[in-house]
Amino acid sequence: MNKFFLFTIMTVLATTVLFQSCTKDDDTGPEEFIATNDTFKDFSAWTLGGELQGADPALGGAHGGNDSTVTRSVYFKSDVVPVGGLYPLGAVVVKYSHNTGGDLNEYTAMVKRGGDFDPTNNDWEYFMLAGDGQIAVDENGNEMRGANLMNGMCLSCHVKGKSSDYIFTQR
Ligand code: HEC
Repeated sequence: MNKFFLFTIMTVLATTVLFQSCTKDDDTGPEEFIATNDTFKDFSAWTLGGELQGADPALGGAHGGNDSTVTRSVYFKSDVVPVGGLYPLGAVVVKYSHNTGGDLNEYTAMVKRGGDFDPTNNDWEYFMLAGDGQIAVDENGNEMRGANLMNGMCLSCHVKGKSSDYIFTQR
């Protein structure tokens, strides 16, 4: 009798949990992290994951890679680390490229947006930032962000790092 009672309770509990998790998925879909200006605030105080100096022919003109005096600093928010080879939802990486002449100040970022944002490319969103960490705005007033930012230019390179979740800088 007791055993049967326990079994009934367990079954009801299990069904409830199963039902709730199903309805949750149906209602909201996979979780998504949508970056705002606040996301990049104070990035220069984050974990410095790497600092590269000098030109890199593989970069061409991207990230100041054709400038022998360039420094490329890569910051990881909240010490994010990949789990099972994949960065977690909400992971933010900012790269600041600058040169000694002071005429190069380029801020780019990648955010693990998740959801169904860009499933074939691990759901990263690419950004151009203004110097103050705000999302840059183009001449039409649109925020410079997206999976295919600059007609897919960012992605065309970062896809080569697919085996390390589109991130090149090893921490
Ligand atoms: C020509 C290839 C190329 C293009 C185009 C490119 N990147 Fe990168 N990116 C790299 C490489 C290589 C690194 C690794 C660090 C380095 O070598 O400077 C990197 C590093 C980064 C990082 C730091 C994380 C990491 O992967 O190490 C961010 C953030 C980033 N890029 C964003 C962007 C964004 C946003 C764009 C488009 C506006 C872009 N990149 C375009 C090649 C490229």
